[in-house]
Amino acid sequence: MTIKDTSAMHLMHMGDGLMRAGDIPTAANLYLVALRRATPRQRQTILVRLGLATANHRRRVQLHDILQSLEAIGQNVFIGEGLATWQKTLPFLDDDRFNALAGKHAHLLPLANWHWNLQTVLWAVKQGRAVEGDFVELGVFKGHTTIFVAEYLEFAGWDKRWFLYDTFEGIPDDQLDPGWAASNKATYGAGTFSFEEVQERFAAFPNIQVIKGRVPEVLGEVSPERIAFLHVDLNNSTAEIAALDALYDRISPGGVIVFDDYCWLSAKAQHDAENRWFADRGLQQILALPTGQGLFIKTA
Ligand SMILES: C[S@@+](CC[C@H](N)C(=O)[O-])C[C@H]1O[C@@H](n2cnc3c(N)ncnc32)[C@H](O)[C@@H]1O
Repeated sequence: MTIKDTSAMHLMHMGDGLMRAGDIPTAANLYLVALRRATPRQRQTILVRLGLATANHRRRVQLHDILQSLEAIGQNVFIGEGLATWQKTLPFLDDDRFNALAGKHAHLLPLANWHWNLQTVLWAVKQGRAVEGDFVELGVFKGHTTIFVAEYLEFAGWDKRWFLYDTFEGIPDDQLDPGWAASNKATYGAGTFSFEEVQERFAAFPNIQVIKGRVPEVLGEVSPERIAFLHVDLNNSTAEIAALDALYDRISPGGVIVFDDYCWLSAKAQHDAENRWFADRGLQQILALPTGQGLFIKTA
């Protein structure tokens, strides 16, 4: 038997053996070849494996084990960061453009198979298109989520602006929440990314502005008057609450907020502070999503 004649499923199983043996780069190559030979039905299961093998993630081998266990009990298994689904219709399953762009930008975030999370933001941005105001992302890192959505939706042609904020030096020391400080510093700290790199990444989008500064203070210098979509991803409760104080009243009716980390255990401080903030104002609570995100639609 030669690789030339080997079927997609054989190649996939060979890749699985290599994953288990710890030879991740060779496994990734086999999955890539398998993908080219796969039928539409086989593609998804190979794509999930490829996502795990190419993710810059320390638990990818364990996630791969869970994937195989779940495949013994159900179909359409998907496994990503802190989320496994099976026996579900995967909304992105047949969307080649979605999968290609998710794969293209995956290296910009140290998290495996972010598809479900991307899908939430994509939905929210589409929802915000008809709402008065501009788009805001608080906490950009390398621009992973926004570049995916902007390319997918060809945002350069939209009559909206998107304001992206980051210190580009990580979370300020006085805003670090207890329990999550060390991993945040290691993953998103100063030196792991740069303002220039992100500005370059969005160069093809004249309506996207990358702004270097600390939230909430920088919002007083440059920020839109009306907001249709707000993506909150600052990984700390102090800045996220201060941002709500500064921006909530500017969100138009129908506007959407996505809190990226709302119900991750690591972000419990954010979850509790945000719940208090909405309860104090007599507002509906944020909808907790199994992706870890929180979703809120402003009705009035
Ligand atoms: C998890 S990353 C953002 C990931 C990005 N939203 C994505 O989906 O690809 C969190 C970012 O928030 C930034 N950040 C944290 N606190 C901040 C603050 N007070 N002002 C500005 N940026 C902040 C960090 O520098 C880091 O890049």
